[in-house]
Amino acid sequence: MCGIFGCVLKSGSAAPIIHSALKRLEYRGYDSVGEATVNMGKLFIKKDAGKIDEVHSLLNLDDLPGEIGIGHTRWATHGAPSRVNSHPHFSCSEPPKIAVVHNGIVENFMELKKELDDAGHVFRSKTDTEVIAHLIEENIGEKELALKTPSSSPFEKAIFNAINRLQGSFAVAVVSSYEPNKVFCARNESPLVLGVAENAFYFASDIPAFLPLTNKAVYVENGEMAILSKNAFEIKKIFDGSSVTRDLKQIDWAPEMAEKQGYPHFMIKEIYEQPRCLRDTLRLQDKYLELLTTFLDRAREVIMVACGTSYHACLAASYMFSKLSFLATHPVIASEFTGQHGKSVNIDSTILAVSQSGETADTLAAVETARQRAATILGLTNVVGSTLTRVSRVYLSQQSGPEIGVAATKTFTSQLSALSQLALRLAKKRGKISQEDIDILDEKVRRIPDIVEKIIETQKEKVKKLATKYRDKSCFFFLARGISYATALEGRLKLMEIAYMPAIAFPAGESKHGPISLIEKGFPVVFVCPPDQTRKTVIGNIMEMKARGALIVAICEENDEEIIRIADDYIEIPKGIPEILSPIPYVVPLQLFAYYMAIERGCDPDMPRNLAKSVTVK
Ligand code: M6R
Repeated sequence: MCGIFGCVLKSGSAAPIIHSALKRLEYRGYDSVGEATVNMGKLFIKKDAGKIDEVHSLLNLDDLPGEIGIGHTRWATHGAPSRVNSHPHFSCSEPPKIAVVHNGIVENFMELKKELDDAGHVFRSKTDTEVIAHLIEENIGEKELALKTPSSSPFEKAIFNAINRLQGSFAVAVVSSYEPNKVFCARNESPLVLGVAENAFYFASDIPAFLPLTNKAVYVENGEMAILSKNAFEIKKIFDGSSVTRDLKQIDWAPEMAEKQGYPHFMIKEIYEQPRCLRDTLRLQDKYLELLTTFLDRAREVIMVACGTSYHACLAASYMFSKLSFLATHPVIASEFTGQHGKSVNIDSTILAVSQSGETADTLAAVETARQRAATILGLTNVVGSTLTRVSRVYLSQQSGPEIGVAATKTFTSQLSALSQLALRLAKKRGKISQEDIDILDEKVRRIPDIVEKIIETQKEKVKKLATKYRDKSCFFFLARGISYATALEGRLKLMEIAYMPAIAFPAGESKHGPISLIEKGFPVVFVCPPDQTRKTVIGNIMEMKARGALIVAICEENDEEIIRIADDYIEIPKGIPEILSPIPYVVPLQLFAYYMAIERGCDPDMPRNLAKSVTVK
């Protein structure tokens, strides 16, 4: 996730406006920043790695001439944060004639890059975005696609030709000295919205970027290109160039709501972002998935190290690797790693470190212990350029964009999606399950984003009511068996950390070895019970709890009559989810429950006391 912004002013200087809009988009990414303006037919570009304020203090981002320009605040996915990988990217010509900013992932960039390499283009960066600039350049003077409304200039034709070749998710914007009075922007899947003011037109990834400048917005839909000039804007279909008319929308958000896109808290915004993040996680780079799979396949022992939510993702992943690819992996809480494995880890050990921030001190300390003993380090993180990416032999980016809420939500589901893809690939490599089963599971992984979307839409109100009902309880149990134990642990962590509700999670089988003594009339017990092979035994555990007066809240499959009959309250999850993927949808109601419990109990879900987003001390 990155933030893009641009403007065409009737008069005045574009650069300071772009700079302040990028500040309002900084929550979408903050590892690099850049701007390009056009003045007197020439392009001017400033960019570098670092937070916006850092780069501004070095380069003065306001000091670029011209009334037209584009800007970008980056969250790296392809290529570590560096000046050369910062946007805008430009084509071969010197001085640059085409500048491009982009949010999203160009899935076919390797193929396009090869084609452009062969045609003599010289690439400077490691990004997928740079292919767009070269592709446009390559298309200038080429035959136009059969567009319904012929484009007005060779440059516009080149943009249509180029954008039509892109696969994946993108919101892309272009300025050029070929067409110095216009900004072109196009969208497929990544967000893009226009702002319309008396003296200017803007485009942005999100409304907050231009909200102090205008509250009139026009949404650009998937497959559309907007062309902004001083006196007008037009929207055309990318596919055939036909014109689109779209009404203006009046935006009524208060400024403090704006950066949360109308949501009251980052946490709930991020819960709602999960379907989109999960779709992005389906676009993981094949090359790195394959490399990681190869390392895992050859490993003598695999130890997964992580903290908090990331540890829960590792725990779930250990079931995935075992069940799908017959690989034994050991999830270890990072702060315990050195004590537990510090002496035994060696050159034959493979460490898979999982960390959203890539900066968690305990996780990095575990990695350091393993590195000192010559183990192979693999990483899964959300922050390309973080310490974890620098110390890993190979790493995978979980692709979920900045997470601002202290409680990790989209992190958990995106990590699980990435880990399940690794487990599936390894299963295939090892020939452990049939191709038919792999195809079915692949298809199910692809359906997960829609399922998560449906759960949020259909169960949100019900979960809210549960929070009202249970807000005054003094303690909760979370129980489950198998892979769902990781889901139970994660549901319990969310409830404790943001609603300050004491909670205990156990494998359901362990409850009768001690914790059950806490149960008395009215004690709430949340059971995570998808219809896997543990279901029958879990029903037995529910009955044990009921017999002692517990109140049962079940997260179960829709129409699971047997469970619904014995539960006091239940949340239904759509049918057809394979066991190994079940933590992704089944955790969503638990995230919502923790959020609404925090609200009911008067806690600020975004700023839980005593906690920091990234724990950089041991
Ligand atoms: O950045 P990391 O994934 O390494 O962070 C690990 C934990 O600090 C983190 O998951 C923490 O437990 C969250 N507050 C959970 O919501």
